[in-house]
Amino acid sequence: MLKLLALLSIFATVCSIKFNLGAQNAIVNRHNSLRTRIANGILDINGVQHGPASNIRLLRWNNTLARTAEIHANSKPTGHSKGAINGEYGENLWWATKSSPILNPHNSGATACEAWQSELTKHGWPTNLYSKNIARATQMAWAETDQIGCGAAVYKEGKVYKIAIVCQYTPKGNLPGMAVYKKGPTGKDCKFKIVQGLCTKM
Ligand SMILES: *[C@@H]1O[C@H](CO)[C@@H](O)[C@H](O)[C@H]1NC(C)=O
Repeated sequence: MLKLLALLSIFATVCSIKFNLGAQNAIVNRHNSLRTRIANGILDINGVQHGPASNIRLLRWNNTLARTAEIHANSKPTGHSKGAINGEYGENLWWATKSSPILNPHNSGATACEAWQSELTKHGWPTNLYSKNIARATQMAWAETDQIGCGAAVYKEGKVYKIAIVCQYTPKGNLPGMAVYKKGPTGKDCKFKIVQGLCTKM
Protein backbone atom coordinates (compact mmCIF):
# COMPACT_ATOMS: atom_id res chain seq x y z
CA MET A 1 0.00 0.00 0.00
CA LEU A 2 2.78 2.41 0.92
CA LYS A 3 4.54 1.54 -2.30
CA LEU A 4 1.37 2.26 -4.23
CA LEU A 5 0.93 5.62 -2.50
CA ALA A 6 4.54 6.53 -3.22
CA LEU A 7 4.01 5.60 -6.85
CA LEU A 8 0.83 7.67 -7.06
CA SER A 9 2.53 10.70 -5.56
CA ILE A 10 5.30 10.43 -8.15
CA PHE A 11 2.77 10.45 -10.96
CA ALA A 12 0.83 13.28 -9.37
CA THR A 13 3.90 15.52 -9.45
CA VAL A 14 4.15 15.37 -13.24
CA CYS A 15 2.09 18.06 -14.89
CA SER A 16 1.50 17.53 -18.57
CA ILE A 17 1.62 20.57 -20.86
CA LYS A 18 -0.36 20.52 -24.06
CA PHE A 19 1.06 23.54 -25.89
CA ASN A 20 -1.56 26.23 -26.51
CA LEU A 21 -2.01 27.83 -29.93
CA GLY A 22 0.35 30.69 -29.11
CA ALA A 23 3.11 28.28 -28.13
CA GLN A 24 2.46 26.10 -31.18
CA ASN A 25 2.76 29.12 -33.47
CA ALA A 26 5.91 30.34 -31.72
CA ILE A 27 7.57 26.94 -32.19
CA VAL A 28 6.50 26.57 -35.82
CA ASN A 29 7.56 30.16 -36.58
CA ARG A 30 11.04 29.71 -35.08
CA HIS A 31 11.53 26.70 -37.31
CA ASN A 32 10.14 28.31 -40.46
CA SER A 33 12.15 31.47 -39.87
CA LEU A 34 15.39 29.47 -39.88
CA ARG A 35 14.19 27.48 -42.89
CA THR A 36 13.19 30.59 -44.85
CA ARG A 37 16.56 32.22 -44.23
CA ILE A 38 18.37 29.16 -45.60
CA ALA A 39 15.96 28.83 -48.54
CA ASN A 40 16.60 32.46 -49.49
CA GLY A 41 20.35 32.22 -48.95
CA ILE A 42 20.48 34.82 -46.19
CA LEU A 43 21.63 32.67 -43.26
CA ASP A 44 25.20 33.44 -42.25
CA ILE A 45 26.81 31.13 -39.69
CA ASN A 46 30.16 32.48 -38.51
CA GLY A 47 30.94 33.78 -41.99
CA VAL A 48 29.57 30.78 -43.92
CA GLN A 49 26.57 31.60 -46.09
CA HIS A 50 23.83 28.95 -46.22
CA GLY A 51 21.49 28.43 -49.14
CA PRO A 52 19.84 29.34 -51.31
CA ALA A 53 18.01 26.02 -51.15
CA SER A 54 15.63 24.48 -53.67
CA ASN A 55 13.74 21.95 -51.57
CA ILE A 56 12.98 23.20 -48.06
CA ARG A 57 9.38 22.57 -47.04
CA LEU A 58 7.16 24.80 -44.93
CA LEU A 59 6.76 23.19 -41.51
CA ARG A 60 3.29 22.83 -39.97
CA TRP A 61 1.91 21.61 -36.67
CA ASN A 62 0.62 18.03 -36.34
CA ASN A 63 -1.56 17.19 -33.30
CA THR A 64 -0.84 13.45 -33.50
CA LEU A 65 2.87 14.12 -33.14
CA ALA A 66 2.16 16.65 -30.40
CA ARG A 67 0.29 13.98 -28.44
CA THR A 68 3.07 11.35 -28.69
CA ALA A 69 5.64 14.05 -27.85
CA GLU A 70 3.60 15.00 -24.79
CA ILE A 71 3.41 11.36 -23.68
CA HIS A 72 7.19 11.10 -23.87
CA ALA A 73 7.64 14.38 -21.97
CA ASN A 74 5.36 12.97 -19.26
CA SER A 75 7.72 10.07 -18.70
CA LYS A 76 10.31 12.50 -17.25
CA PRO A 77 12.59 11.51 -20.10
CA THR A 78 16.34 11.23 -19.86
CA GLY A 79 16.73 10.28 -23.53
CA HIS A 80 14.90 9.67 -26.78
CA SER A 81 11.53 7.93 -27.07
CA LYS A 82 11.13 4.43 -28.45
CA GLY A 83 9.51 5.74 -31.62
CA ALA A 84 12.46 8.04 -32.27
CA ILE A 85 14.95 5.24 -31.65
CA ASN A 86 12.96 2.95 -33.97
CA GLY A 87 13.07 5.63 -36.64
CA GLU A 88 9.34 6.42 -36.79
CA TYR A 89 10.03 10.16 -36.45
CA GLY A 90 12.80 12.62 -35.65
CA GLU A 91 12.96 14.08 -32.15
CA ASN A 92 14.49 17.04 -30.33
CA LEU A 93 14.69 17.23 -26.54
CA TRP A 94 15.29 20.12 -24.15
CA TRP A 95 15.31 20.44 -20.37
CA ALA A 96 15.54 23.29 -17.91
CA THR A 97 15.96 23.21 -14.16
CA LYS A 98 14.86 25.89 -11.71
CA SER A 99 14.89 26.33 -7.97
CA SER A 100 11.35 27.74 -8.05
CA PRO A 101 8.20 26.39 -9.75
CA ILE A 102 8.05 26.86 -13.51
CA LEU A 103 5.18 29.28 -14.03
CA ASN A 104 5.22 29.90 -17.77
CA PRO A 105 5.87 26.54 -19.43
CA HIS A 106 4.22 27.62 -22.68
CA ASN A 107 6.93 30.25 -23.20
CA SER A 108 9.59 27.57 -23.02
CA GLY A 109 8.73 26.15 -26.44
CA ALA A 110 10.40 29.07 -28.21
CA THR A 111 13.29 29.03 -25.72
CA ALA A 112 13.98 25.39 -26.57
CA CYS A 113 14.03 26.25 -30.29
CA GLU A 114 16.54 29.04 -29.66
CA ALA A 115 18.76 26.65 -27.72
CA TRP A 116 18.67 24.07 -30.51
CA GLN A 117 19.41 26.65 -33.18
CA SER A 118 22.29 28.14 -31.17
CA GLU A 119 24.30 24.97 -31.87
CA LEU A 120 25.02 26.42 -35.31
CA THR A 121 26.95 29.47 -34.13
CA LYS A 122 28.44 27.55 -31.23
CA HIS A 123 29.91 24.73 -33.31
CA GLY A 124 29.83 26.21 -36.81
CA TRP A 125 28.18 24.73 -39.89
CA PRO A 126 30.75 24.62 -42.67
CA THR A 127 28.68 22.71 -45.27
CA ASN A 128 25.03 21.85 -45.90
CA LEU A 129 25.57 18.45 -44.27
CA TYR A 130 24.28 16.91 -41.05
CA SER A 131 26.75 16.79 -38.19
CA LYS A 132 26.27 15.19 -34.78
CA ASN A 133 27.15 18.23 -32.67
CA ILE A 134 24.55 20.39 -34.46
CA ALA A 135 21.92 17.65 -34.87
CA ARG A 136 19.16 19.55 -33.00
CA ALA A 137 19.60 22.53 -35.32
CA THR A 138 19.80 20.43 -38.49
CA GLN A 139 16.58 18.69 -37.40
CA MET A 140 14.95 22.13 -37.27
CA ALA A 141 16.22 22.88 -40.77
CA TRP A 142 15.83 19.43 -42.37
CA ALA A 143 14.38 20.23 -45.80
CA GLU A 144 12.18 17.17 -46.40
CA THR A 145 10.54 17.33 -42.97
CA ASP A 146 7.22 19.17 -43.07
CA GLN A 147 5.44 18.34 -39.82
CA ILE A 148 6.17 18.94 -36.17
CA GLY A 149 4.39 18.28 -32.89
CA CYS A 150 5.67 19.13 -29.43
CA GLY A 151 4.64 18.59 -25.84
CA ALA A 152 6.06 19.35 -22.42
CA ALA A 153 5.90 18.32 -18.80
CA VAL A 154 6.83 20.05 -15.59
CA TYR A 155 7.78 18.06 -12.51
CA LYS A 156 9.75 18.16 -9.32
CA GLU A 157 12.89 16.16 -8.90
CA GLY A 158 14.30 16.28 -5.40
CA LYS A 159 14.43 19.98 -4.57
CA VAL A 160 14.44 21.31 -8.12
CA TYR A 161 11.69 21.99 -10.63
CA LYS A 162 12.16 20.71 -14.14
CA ILE A 163 10.60 21.18 -17.53
CA ALA A 164 11.12 18.71 -20.36
CA ILE A 165 10.21 19.63 -23.92
CA VAL A 166 9.87 17.06 -26.68
CA CYS A 167 9.38 17.85 -30.37
CA GLN A 168 8.78 15.14 -32.92
CA TYR A 169 9.23 15.49 -36.69
CA THR A 170 8.06 13.71 -39.85
CA PRO A 171 9.06 12.65 -42.41
CA LYS A 172 12.13 11.53 -40.56
CA GLY A 173 15.54 12.55 -41.89
CA ASN A 174 18.47 14.19 -40.17
CA LEU A 175 20.89 11.37 -40.82
CA PRO A 176 24.71 11.26 -40.92
CA GLY A 177 26.26 11.80 -44.33
CA MET A 178 23.13 13.41 -45.74
CA ALA A 179 22.58 16.97 -46.92
CA VAL A 180 20.15 18.96 -44.77
CA TYR A 181 18.96 20.84 -47.85
CA LYS A 182 19.62 20.93 -51.59
CA LYS A 183 21.66 23.86 -52.81
CA GLY A 184 19.98 25.56 -55.73
CA PRO A 185 17.61 28.35 -56.71
CA THR A 186 15.06 29.07 -53.97
CA GLY A 187 12.11 26.67 -54.20
CA LYS A 188 13.13 25.25 -57.59
CA ASP A 189 12.21 21.70 -56.47
CA CYS A 190 8.83 22.67 -54.97
CA LYS A 191 6.06 20.54 -56.46
CA PHE A 192 3.15 22.79 -55.55
CA LYS A 193 3.52 26.27 -54.14
CA ILE A 194 6.35 28.42 -52.77
CA VAL A 195 5.62 30.48 -49.65
CA GLN A 196 8.46 32.59 -48.23
CA GLY A 197 10.86 30.46 -50.25
CA LEU A 198 9.47 27.25 -48.74
CA CYS A 199 7.54 24.44 -50.46
CA THR A 200 3.94 23.81 -49.43
CA LYS A 201 0.70 22.28 -50.65
CA MET A 202 -1.42 24.66 -48.58
C1 LIG B 1 0.34 13.62 -38.42
O1 LIG B 1 1.37 12.73 -38.10
C2 LIG B 1 0.97 11.40 -38.03
C3 LIG B 1 2.11 10.59 -37.47
O2 LIG B 1 3.29 10.79 -38.21
C4 LIG B 1 0.48 10.93 -39.39
O3 LIG B 1 0.08 9.60 -39.35
C5 LIG B 1 -0.65 11.83 -39.84
O4 LIG B 1 -1.03 11.51 -41.16
C6 LIG B 1 -0.26 13.29 -39.77
N1 LIG B 1 -1.44 14.14 -39.98
C7 LIG B 1 -1.59 14.93 -41.04
C8 LIG B 1 -2.81 15.78 -41.05
O5 LIG B 1 -0.79 14.97 -41.98
